[in-house]
Amino acid sequence: MNSTLSLAILSGKGGVGKTNISLNLACALHQLGFKPLLMDCDMGLANLDILLGITPTANLQDALMGQTPMKDVLFSIDKGFDVLPAASGVPELNELKPELRGILIDRLEPHLSSYDYVFMDLGAGISENVQTFAALASVRLIVITPEPTSLTDGYALVKVLNNRFGMKDFMVLVNQASSAKEAQVTFERMHKACLHFLHVEPVMLGHVRLDSKLPEAVCRQKPLLKYAPSSPAARDIMAIAEKLQKIRLSMADWLADRSILHRPTDTASTEEALA
Ligand SMILES: Nc1ncnc2c1ncn2[C@@H]1O[C@H](COP(=O)(O)OP(=O)(O)O)[C@@H](O)[C@H]1O
Ligand SMILES: [Mg+2]
Repeated sequence: MNSTLSLAILSGKGGVGKTNISLNLACALHQLGFKPLLMDCDMGLANLDILLGITPTANLQDALMGQTPMKDVLFSIDKGFDVLPAASGVPELNELKPELRGILIDRLEPHLSSYDYVFMDLGAGISENVQTFAALASVRLIVITPEPTSLTDGYALVKVLNNRFGMKDFMVLVNQASSAKEAQVTFERMHKACLHFLHVEPVMLGHVRLDSKLPEAVCRQKPLLKYAPSSPAARDIMAIAEKLQKIRLSMADWLADRSILHRPTDTASTEEALA
């Protein structure tokens, strides 16, 4: 019976905080006693290794396109906390072809059941790669910031995934918010646009405050949760991790009947979905 929750971390616009949110949510859940796997799925600008200050010897591309067994690619950063690193700039993987998609699922899935959470940290935008991982995961988390461009790009992402795969369930995390109030207003704008134009109702997962400790942690190549655990953003992320665990429990029956990764069925091409 499956109990692993896979989450795709998405955004329309780059630099909104996806990688830091994925990393620190995984850290927070590990601190709460759960086993997370953090997958670097940003084949364009893979940088989880840099944020962690690690130098993995093999990566996802080696396991997909070469001879390296998947288990040798998993990099343990702590007991029960692994990272699946990626390399930057492998065009075949950025535009993931259906054949590779199948190989990815077949090779990856057998290794996932020992984890409680699988976080897929994706690149920004709507590349084939992003759409594939978004469709593979059980839950899609869209990261937005209060900037208007982040909101419109986030909406465009929901639109494409909804049109192409018929996806209706999205969670939203507002990052870099100056207050809970600003986060709520930002979420409501997104919710209103999705409901009005797409008849989709995203759900607010939570918000993370703008916090100067976060760029400091990045410079020190340490997760914020380790570098400044009592900083406002770290506390927000811990609260979101606790909420996520409640959500995973409430999804137990649904998860039990599903595979950890889902083979997507396209209902439209990207061009049609964008129209
Ligand atoms: N809550 C926050 N408070 C302050 N700065 C942030 C916050 N979230 C992200 N940042 C800044 O944004 C930068 C980009 O974050 P990153 O996680 O790499 O984004 P993405 O993966 O979406 O491109 C970080 O290096 C950091 O400087
Ligand atoms: Mg990133």
